[in-house]
Amino acid sequence: MSEQTPTVPMDKIVSLARRRGFVFPSSEIYGGLSGCWDYGPLGIELKRNIKQAWWQSMVRERDDIVGIETSILMHPQVWRTSGHLERMVDPLVECKNCHLRYRADDLQGDRCPSCGGELTEARMFNVMFKTSVGPVDDSASVVYLRPETAQGMFVNFDNIVQSTHRKLPLGIAQQGKSFRNEITTGNFIFRSREFEQMEMEFFVKPGTDEKWFEYWVQARHDWFVKLGIKREHLGLNEHPKEKLAHYAKRCIDVTYLFPQGWAELEGIANRTDYDLKQHSQGSGKTLDYYDDETKEHYTPYVIEPAVGVDRSLLAFLCDAYAEEPDKDETRVVLHFHPVLAPVKAAILPLSKKENLSSFARDVYAGIRPYFMAQYDDTQSIGRRYRRQDEIGTPYCVTVDFQSLEDKRVTVRERDTMNQIRIPVAELRRTLEAKLAGEDLYVLPPGGEIWNPEREKKG
Ligand code: GAP
Repeated sequence: MSEQTPTVPMDKIVSLARRRGFVFPSSEIYGGLSGCWDYGPLGIELKRNIKQAWWQSMVRERDDIVGIETSILMHPQVWRTSGHLERMVDPLVECKNCHLRYRADDLQGDRCPSCGGELTEARMFNVMFKTSVGPVDDSASVVYLRPETAQGMFVNFDNIVQSTHRKLPLGIAQQGKSFRNEITTGNFIFRSREFEQMEMEFFVKPGTDEKWFEYWVQARHDWFVKLGIKREHLGLNEHPKEKLAHYAKRCIDVTYLFPQGWAELEGIANRTDYDLKQHSQGSGKTLDYYDDETKEHYTPYVIEPAVGVDRSLLAFLCDAYAEEPDKDETRVVLHFHPVLAPVKAAILPLSKKENLSSFARDVYAGIRPYFMAQYDDTQSIGRRYRRQDEIGTPYCVTVDFQSLEDKRVTVRERDTMNQIRIPVAELRRTLEAKLAGEDLYVLPPGGEIWNPEREKKG
């Protein structure tokens, strides 16, 4: 990890996210709810693309991992057995003067950072949200909103092995909401009370766990690089033994240089056989594995890569953000990887005149089934390019009056601002190829490199 300074201040990200419809405060018209966020039209596309990319690499492209989706509410015994009821606690202190509350381990000194007042003794605060099932609200009906998705995989281990006839190593992956009543939230969507996780429990033969642990640390780090995060903004941080979670033998965080500084993006833990053994004891149902080849029964060890969707989204947003000189001005660009970009292409007619609009609308209709696309005919073309750059759209397709004659359109690339002119009939295939990484200047039949300045000079 280097001593770099973050590349973008958080307020710029928060303001862009809100202005362009990525993320809004939850229930904003009522003053918001701390630690909860709503995703707008672009935010939800980005979020879905991140989840899809994770699912693709963790489930679809592998034959040793299967996906599941388990309920958010689980039998309360799950949390007693897993240790979360007893140990998912943070030290809470309160200022005796202004009554603000803090996590004791987040504080530098022993006075209130806000008013300098005296703090109470720390008391342990369980971060699980409680609710109740059924019409009677008594202690017998108490359940918890899950603080991690992982337990859904452990309690289903036997169901998955029996129903899929898979052999170890075997991963079980899940994406879904988790809830933690964090004492302090903040840094935008970095730490919230309601958030989404993508977790995978990789069950392995004991003795092979260290090898698989190293494998997953590298694989998960590389996933972020493949999706465009700059290597120098990523780090690895091993937890010291005394700071390990109650279930872990080792844990390495993939860290990211967030606007507030280096912080955990994803955690990869060696959970040993802790969870399966605990649930075997707690439920009375043996959760072990019979190895056909060696004819032995054993309890598998588990390697767990666990990442937050919202936290990843924040990292992808920050890393994509750039302010670049463009003629006499500065353009704001989100250099998203095409796989993540919320909008893949924008159709921009040069005029709102009827004949051009209807042609441009047909072009738009032709690609909509295949890509998330936008149609924009308001204001100057320069402003429309800026708007698309600012939301990270990789390609802008401009339809002009010449298009009515030659049935060709120009395609402008977000990062280089270079342009090509190609037949409308080739548009879908060309965009597909470019989004998959083909150089802009590889031309389809009937295409040419386009120089708008030359055109203007006539
Ligand atoms: N099953 C293990 C587990 O939940 P964790 O380190 O507590 O481990 C995994 O959480 C990931 O979930 C974190 O690396 C982070 O990306 C995300 N995460 C955890 N708490 C979060 C919160 N309050 N808000 C947003 N994301 C959170």
